[in-house]
Amino acid sequence: MRAGGSGPVREAARILDGRRNAVALTGAGISVESGIPSFRGTQGMWTKYDPMEYATLHAFMRSPRKVWEMLSEMISVCGGAAPNAAHKGLAALEEMGVVRAVITQNVDGLHQAAGSRRVIEYHGNLDELICVHCWKRYPTRDRWTPGGVPLCDCGEVLKPNVVLFGESIPWLPQEQAEEEARACGVLLVIGTSAQVSPACDIPRIAKESGAAVIEINPEETSLSGNVTDIHLRGSASDAIRLLLKELSPGDEAPPSAPSGH
Ligand code: OAD
Repeated sequence: MRAGGSGPVREAARILDGRRNAVALTGAGISVESGIPSFRGTQGMWTKYDPMEYATLHAFMRSPRKVWEMLSEMISVCGGAAPNAAHKGLAALEEMGVVRAVITQNVDGLHQAAGSRRVIEYHGNLDELICVHCWKRYPTRDRWTPGGVPLCDCGEVLKPNVVLFGESIPWLPQEQAEEEARACGVLLVIGTSAQVSPACDIPRIAKESGAAVIEINPEETSLSGNVTDIHLRGSASDAIRLLLKELSPGDEAPPSAPSGH
């Protein structure tokens, strides 16, 4: 990775080790190495699907079957994906008592699959479907088949229980995320362009509450020049592997994630 040599990694590990109570905020970039495309950038989902036509609540209410073209692709891709070294590394950091919680904007469930226990899903999860007319909920696997449009018992098209543009963040994850941001000593911001509100406020809340902000991203973001204290420029898996090596220098390989996941 290009992390400016080992200096920034060592400094980041020193801060993590000293303060212990770190929280991670993750975005689509952490799942890119699991084969799930991010949203922005040349390979991103929004080059294929205009978010105004496919990712707003208004678009879903107007033409849910059209929005399901994109949703079906997302569920298929996410359903076939496995956690990568970055997800597993974060779970290992939680097991070591370094990371206390993960706030994720992702809806793929890969942090839980990797063994992270305290995961705050800020934008929901593709695992559940909800009827926007009668509010009945279903596990996605019970109602959705690849390429199909899932229907509620009441006959309406179901929506995944994820946050579309134009929807509010559910109050519980929003409260939990802000509480974690205010209380943490270090915020690890991993694989997010930090362009979507209100998730992009979390680093500022942490910083204003006294946390050190460590960003892991191969690119610059709006946070890099001001909110970020240390920017590890590289892929999430490389950066987290290097951090784990610094934090447990005797180990050949990073500690494995808790079993049973
Ligand atoms: P973006 O697609 O906006 O940003 C992904 C970020 O990951 C970029 O900054 C990349 O540089 C970085 N990246 C790419 N590969 C990486 C790697 N291997 N390791 C680390 N970083 C990498 O995705 P988000 O910021 O997550 O919301 O997007 C936020 C929200 O916008 C999503 O939750 C979704 C979307 O619209 C809703 O749909 C409501």
